[in-house]
Amino acid sequence: MPSLFEPYQLHDLTLPNRLVMGPMTRAKATPEGVPTPMMATHYAQRASAGLIITEGTWPERRGQGYFDIPGIATQEQQDAWASITDAVHAADGRIFLQMEHTGRVGHEVNSGGNQLCAPSNVPADFKIFTRESGLTQMTTDLHVLSTKEVWEVIDKYGKAAKRTKAAGFDGIELHGASGYLPHQFLSDTSNLRDDDFGGTPHKRTRFMIEVLKCLIDAWGDSHRIGVKISPGILYNGSVENEVEETYTALISQLNELDLAYVAFQTPESLRSLAGQDDDDIAGGEIWHRFPYEFIRENYNGTVIASGDLTKELAQNALDAGKADLFVFGRAYMSNPDLVERMQNDWPLTEVDMRRGYGGGEEGYNDYPTWQEQQAQQQQGPVG
Ligand SMILES: Cc1cc2nc3c(=O)[nH]c(=O)nc-3n(C[C@H](O)[C@H](O)[C@H](O)COP(=O)(O)O)c2cc1C
Repeated sequence: MPSLFEPYQLHDLTLPNRLVMGPMTRAKATPEGVPTPMMATHYAQRASAGLIITEGTWPERRGQGYFDIPGIATQEQQDAWASITDAVHAADGRIFLQMEHTGRVGHEVNSGGNQLCAPSNVPADFKIFTRESGLTQMTTDLHVLSTKEVWEVIDKYGKAAKRTKAAGFDGIELHGASGYLPHQFLSDTSNLRDDDFGGTPHKRTRFMIEVLKCLIDAWGDSHRIGVKISPGILYNGSVENEVEETYTALISQLNELDLAYVAFQTPESLRSLAGQDDDDIAGGEIWHRFPYEFIRENYNGTVIASGDLTKELAQNALDAGKADLFVFGRAYMSNPDLVERMQNDWPLTEVDMRRGYGGGEEGYNDYPTWQEQQAQQQQGPVG
């Protein structure tokens, strides 16, 4: 049985272990979406992860649902990301960029005044943070994409993929989960279209598949493109009634694309995140079929699991053959040396979620490694 701490061959990329630093939005970019030097420090501190996946990063400005999150749509953003990939590679790490277009989720105030776009005129009845007004009702004024405009959005992903490669990343993860644009196309409640991008489970998968094909073309190697999905998740107003039909159709096509991996987030896990309590989550029944089995049964390639994992749960899932790689989210926020801590059974530092989003280096880059903690304790208090 392989251990979590043994290498994994992700096609031509050798991961030294099976722990993945999950994508985490932290709102540390400039208001124009340019990554900042503190982000280089943050990711480089975590370079011993088998693989780092960055926070969600927008391919076009109107796909920026949240404030101060980075983009990969301009030369300035590309150059700033290049400093980050350099820092991670200098620390012997590997890093994929997560590409996130939030579609109907967000507010014009966050997306540079651009009207948000969506598959259909179905606003997400939900609240979102803006810098100016705090927690604010999401926009109800949506631009419904025409068929031609859908292709234009797909093209934006392709252009952003070229920048991602030029910035020195090792690959791209398409964010197809959590109620954002590709997920809005998948869902029968947010996609009411009757063109080639809606109407049946198969047609609702088309947007995601075409985006993936475009990313693969732009990169020139399907083994460097992964996708994250969250079947049946209730998040950001996402509600799906035909989960099994839709995701069966999706995964059979993902098999043909010969991707780097499929990552998934368990339906339960997002409930505990970001302070969303049950009242905030749009109605609908949670999908009860646990995606571990579903995805393993249907998908032929590398599977990455995420959501409320511990070292023990991850190792058990690996032993049972349920997944190949394991995302740690919150544990990575507060433990830059998570691999070493788990490998040596050193205790983990609890994360302070009050410093989850925005702000500076405090609560971001000042979590010590275990060795640093030990050194501090031996020195004793100063003064
Ligand atoms: C602060 C924070 C920000 C997150 N941002 C993203 C994101 O940008 N993209 C994404 O796919 N998942 C995001 N997630 C979900 C994580 O990647 C991960 O799947 C989730 O936290 C479950 O793992 P955990 O239980 O180990 O924290 C975020 C989670 C947290 C805590």
